[in-house]
Amino acid sequence: MSNYTILSVSDLRKYFTTAEGVVRAVDGVSFNVKHGETLALVGESGSGKTTTGHVIMGFYPPDGGKIIYKGAYELSIPMKKRPLELKRDIQIVFQDPGTSLNPKRLVKDIISLPLLVHRIVDKRRVYEKVAELLEYVGLSEEYMFRYPHELGGGEKQLVAIARALAPNPSFIILDESTSALDVSSQAKVLNTLVKIQNELKLTYLLITHDLGVVRNISQRVMIMYLGKIYEEAPTEEFFKLPMHPYTQMLLSSIPTLSEEDEKIKPRGIESVGEIPSAVKPPSGCRFHTRCPFAKQICMEKDPPDIIVNNNHIVRCWLYE
Ligand SMILES: Nc1ncnc2c1ncn2[C@@H]1O[C@H](COP(=O)(O)OP(=O)(O)O)[C@@H](O)[C@H]1O
Ligand SMILES: [Mg+2]
Repeated sequence: MSNYTILSVSDLRKYFTTAEGVVRAVDGVSFNVKHGETLALVGESGSGKTTTGHVIMGFYPPDGGKIIYKGAYELSIPMKKRPLELKRDIQIVFQDPGTSLNPKRLVKDIISLPLLVHRIVDKRRVYEKVAELLEYVGLSEEYMFRYPHELGGGEKQLVAIARALAPNPSFIILDESTSALDVSSQAKVLNTLVKIQNELKLTYLLITHDLGVVRNISQRVMIMYLGKIYEEAPTEEFFKLPMHPYTQMLLSSIPTLSEEDEKIKPRGIESVGEIPSAVKPPSGCRFHTRCPFAKQICMEKDPPDIIVNNNHIVRCWLYE
């Protein structure tokens, strides 16, 4: 990890108009990503993680805020206006490779498409490069002649990773990329992601609800709830000293795997209730309806940033 900020997000907002009303999916989110790190964005389903990733990708424009990439590029403008160079440099791997890989195309064609679009190699050398990419993610070149449905879940995801790597990106968004896999495929894919990150100096924004994955591969963690970020900390400190009651609730609901896990599990915060609707989020701290420690002020006012130390920030009235 270097100290260079590759991506800077400030006061990002994304609202969706639906039949039920306006969904404030991302509602004032700010964070920086350092070059070469894995920054995890964690939270229950519906907290706005995917929307954050999709706005960064440019799938839809934000309704407010700024995203600055590599100090120079403004990503908060419509995708159509993004230079090809930017589309090349930022890639995404989705949760479900079953739907993100075209079922009618052979693996060799799936991976060669970005190579050709971004003119990474000469046309005559394209399949050579595909074989190289496959090998790089741990698949033999015979996979070139298979269709996605002929692959296992982990293999499909490795193909999706090879496709994301094809245009030589610097920044990759991993949106629940291992969540749908069985434990052994998950381990294989995670190991591959870590290997290629180290070798290619990639930066990852790791979107997940799985704290086991967070502990294994991320250096920093952010906790998102109903469109806002409530805590951010270096991974080690996050597991040792979780401060926000929501963070503690998430940690206490991890199924216990080992004695070591048992030791770090915070006590006394049971997971209660469901995430409320993002159409009418609770006033004040959005977690107050599920928080065992909620006070009057938590219902009334947005919590302030409490700086625990340089890298650890919690947004909670308990620490005021
Ligand atoms: N295209 C969309 N149209 C309407 N609502 C959406 C759309 N995408 C996401 N949402 C809503 O925005 C909120 C955040 O969703 P999402 O970003 O997918 O959360 P997460 O990835 O954390 O599960 C949810 O309430 C979801 O229903
Ligand atoms: Mg999601």
